[in-house]
Amino acid sequence: MSSKLIAPSILAADFANLERDIHMVNHSDADWFHIDIMDGVFVPNISFGMPVLKAITKYTKKPVDVHLMIVDPDRYIKTFADLGANILSVHYEACTHLHRTLQAIKAEGMQAGVALNPHTNVSLLEDIINDIDLVCMMSVNPGFGGQKFIENTYNKIAQLKALIERRGASTRIEIDGGVTDKNAKALVDAGADVLVAGSFVFKSEDQIKTIGDLKALANS
Ligand code: DX5
Ligand code: ZN
Repeated sequence: MSSKLIAPSILAADFANLERDIHMVNHSDADWFHIDIMDGVFVPNISFGMPVLKAITKYTKKPVDVHLMIVDPDRYIKTFADLGANILSVHYEACTHLHRTLQAIKAEGMQAGVALNPHTNVSLLEDIINDIDLVCMMSVNPGFGGQKFIENTYNKIAQLKALIERRGASTRIEIDGGVTDKNAKALVDAGADVLVAGSFVFKSEDQIKTIGDLKALANS
C-alpha cells in the first residue's frame, strides 16, 4: 500500500507569521502544502492571490498543491506554474472545456487536478478520469475553512474509487474540508490518498505533533 499524504491548508495559517508557519510545515511529516485561491465570485470569499503565493513558494520545500476556487481558471494556468505550483486543481463547476484545461495544466509541467463540489456527482468524471492526476473532493462547501465535514463524502469516495478502478486510471483522491483525527482513518479506509487539513492543524497547540499524528493515523 502506498503512503497516504497529509497536506496542511495554509488558509488556516497565521498570515502575519507565514514564514514561520511554512517552516513548521517544512519540518513536519506533512507531504504537500495546500494553497486555496478564492476569487469572491466562484466562492463567496476572497483568500489571497499571486503576490502572497510568490512569497510562500520562496520558502516551501515540499510540493505545492494549489486549489483554484475561481471562475475561468484557464486565464491563470501559466501564472500559477511560474509561481511554483506543482499540482493545480480547477473546479469541475468552473470549466466549460475541462479536457482542454487539464491538457494546458500538464503542458506547463504541473499535475492536473479537478475539484468537485459536494453536490457534483462523481459519475460526471467518467469520460475524463484518465486525464486527471488528482480529484480534490470537497467535503465542505468551498469558500471557508473550519466547516463541518459532510458525511455523504464517504459514499462519493466509494463511487470515485470504483470509477478509477473500472477505468484503470491512476488518479489520486484528495479530501478537502473538515478533516480531523476523528475521520482521517475512516477516510483513508474508504479510499482517500491525500488528506487536506487546515483548522485542525493550525488551531492545535502543537502543530508538528498534530501533523505527525494525522500522518500516522492515515497510514495505520
Ligand atoms: C475550503 C478550502 C479548504 C480549507 C480546509 O474552501 O478548500 O482547503 O482550507 O479547511 P479546514 O480543514 O479547516 O476545513
Ligand atoms: Zn482547498
